[in-house]
Amino acid sequence: MRVGVLTGGGDCPGLNAVIRAVVRRAERQLDDEVVGYIDGWRGLLEDEWMPLDVKACRGILPRGGTIIGTSRIHPYMHDDGVERVRATMARHGVEGLIVIGGEGTLSAADRMNSDGVPTVGVPKTIDNDIGGTEMTFGFDTAVQIATEAIDRLHSTAESHNRVMLLEVMGRHVGHIATWAGIAGGASVVLVPEEPFVIEEVCASLRRRHARGPYASIVVVAEGALPAEGTLSIPEPSIDEFGHQRLGGIANIVAAEIESRTGFETRVTNLGYVQRGGTPTAFDRVLSTWFGVEAMNAAHERDWGQMVALSEGAVIRRPLGECIDEIKPTLPQLLDVARTFSA
Ligand code: F6P
Repeated sequence: MRVGVLTGGGDCPGLNAVIRAVVRRAERQLDDEVVGYIDGWRGLLEDEWMPLDVKACRGILPRGGTIIGTSRIHPYMHDDGVERVRATMARHGVEGLIVIGGEGTLSAADRMNSDGVPTVGVPKTIDNDIGGTEMTFGFDTAVQIATEAIDRLHSTAESHNRVMLLEVMGRHVGHIATWAGIAGGASVVLVPEEPFVIEEVCASLRRRHARGPYASIVVVAEGALPAEGTLSIPEPSIDEFGHQRLGGIANIVAAEIESRTGFETRVTNLGYVQRGGTPTAFDRVLSTWFGVEAMNAAHERDWGQMVALSEGAVIRRPLGECIDEIKPTLPQLLDVARTFSA
């Protein structure tokens, strides 16, 4: 059989490891063929593709990004989207699609499957916010990058007796902020799950700094928000795909800390650095396992599934059951992070 592969949404380390595993399993063990569609759903809408064989995947395991490109283009944003996808697949003799992406890309895959275009989903995002899987690949690498950044920020905080803020990604949930905050020894972690009260943040820092020379690290998820009525912040702009353009909450928090406490405060926004470069060993293994199992499901024509990590093993779950729920950070883990606030 011939299957198509696409990578949609934000890029992240591990995408190429998934592609490599799908192709290797298909070509060498299942005698199947793989077609790569360029820039996510756009490649299917505009019939732009590349053959994916073992040779094309040589050396891509450790490479960040995706060799077939990605985009946030959504097929259902086009009136004839499904028909164009179906026609492209028919032209290439492609029976079904392995769709690698986050909540937006996978919800399109689920709709496609309901509209008669067979799909298998592979959950991808550094945010680790997709319900139905304990982990998504990209997350471990983002946490490692953010932790290394925090380790470095301690030096300047201690040298200048400063409060250093690090803004990390995480639009709906604060997994990256919480894990990197704990791993990096942050004093305060602000996440979307728990709207913050700026005066309480300042009081915590004052208590901490009353104990002597101070140097505090505050990690802020880009989606963190102040509790209702405690601080006014500008409405985020919306991008062409309907996504809120986040970024900058740490600057607002830093300005408030400095004006309310008098502590010198500085901000680093990690931005796209946490989505770049080579995946960690964990993400390479998870991506590879996801890719092999997704190809197994496609080969068996077990469509409408999403591969998922559950109790340490990769299983299949109905795609429709996985994409509706955003997985929040465990309150218990947020309590662990708060152990280190003053
Ligand atoms: O969904 C993953 C993610 O990296 C979010 O953490 C971030 O808010 C968003 O993508 C950024 O989107 P874009 O790459 O389109 O700017």
